[in-house]
Amino acid sequence: MQMTKRLKEGLCLAVAGMALLSGCAERGDAYYRPIDPATYPVANGPGEKLAPGEVDAAARVAAIIYARLERMYANVPVRRDAHPKPHGCVAATFTVGDGVPASLRHGLFANPGAYRAVIRYSNSNENPNRPDYDKDGRGMAVKVLGSSEQPLPGTPLAVAPGAEPSQDFIMINFPTFLVAEPKDYEKLVGYNDSPSKVTQWLLPVLVPLSIGLKGTINAVDATSSLIDNPLNTRYWSMVPYQLGSGADAVAVKYSAMPCEPKPVVIPKTKDSNYLRAAMVEQLATGGACMRFMVQVRTGDMSVEDPRYEWSETEAPFQEVARIEIPKQDFNTEPQNAACEASSYNPWHALPDHKPLGGVNRMRKAIYERIFELRRETAGR
Ligand code: HEM
Repeated sequence: MQMTKRLKEGLCLAVAGMALLSGCAERGDAYYRPIDPATYPVANGPGEKLAPGEVDAAARVAAIIYARLERMYANVPVRRDAHPKPHGCVAATFTVGDGVPASLRHGLFANPGAYRAVIRYSNSNENPNRPDYDKDGRGMAVKVLGSSEQPLPGTPLAVAPGAEPSQDFIMINFPTFLVAEPKDYEKLVGYNDSPSKVTQWLLPVLVPLSIGLKGTINAVDATSSLIDNPLNTRYWSMVPYQLGSGADAVAVKYSAMPCEPKPVVIPKTKDSNYLRAAMVEQLATGGACMRFMVQVRTGDMSVEDPRYEWSETEAPFQEVARIEIPKQDFNTEPQNAACEASSYNPWHALPDHKPLGGVNRMRKAIYERIFELRRETAGR
């Protein structure tokens, strides 16, 4: 008994010592820009509740990310903090069907219609040169745009400077995120983005200390996939969004999956960009199709804690649109440059699809600030 107590005390001391030693979590002081709470998203959607210290945590996370990007890309254009490696931006049509159930007919899904869309497929890792055959998370970001024949049914909550208004849907090939508490995310990013070698060495201890066991398992699982083709992969929004407005609004999550999934065969290849090659090959001769679906929250499923999946048995996904990607040559210099210069942001959303939960609220100021940095440094 005495022995166990001693061991526990020893372990605690060792962990505390390591945390102290790590000492130098990045705080981004030189880039810290406070957020005016009056401009911060109001937590008034279904299931929403502002967390203590959340607004400042968002400002800190933006400053920490900014500091790392300034170090990584000192004299060259800054790239995206997350998902910097694209497999390509492809033109698509986002068609809302006429069979959408009445309860889901809000915002973009209110009426049938075919919209223009641009989809950016990517790897998650912060290293834009990481080979595709290394385990990673994979992203699919859909930008739905209006046209004179089919205008967007409303004005988005935010529009990137210099860009067309759009409804963006941002997804990853894993259903859950790694943190619920904004302050925990600040700790995680502070350690992860620290330039200190000691801190980097201690990351395997510091990550679970900052985001707990469930968050750590999710973080590992979300970044451990190998895929054969981004067009043959399923994606989830991980975090929730509002559907509808006012008293009838509900919380939903999104998912997109191939209309006709093929068995996944991971190629044995030394081509570090084989995912782009797979898309080029498929779209040179034919198209691709994905189903876009929403899952309506039921019971006590959490809006603020995206570490837990909403059960598909209790809350099944329902299709609201089809994404058709026609045959095309997308791998051209101008299209790749436009892809790099684009901005996808969960707040590029119609009011009926307002982003929900602390992670999404934080993302608004962070995505805007990092996109601003990318625009400012694009010419260097
Ligand atoms: C507080 C949490 C998060 C932070 C701080 C964060 C940060 C960022 C930043 C700074 C960018 C680059 C934006 C730009 O420069 O235009 C980005 C891109 C991205 N993020 Fe997040 N993110 C968070 C949560 C999430 C979640 C929950 C998802 C789940 C779907 C996600 C998926 C993506 C994807 C797919 C991209 C690339 C979008 C594109 O293709 O342009 N992020 N993230």
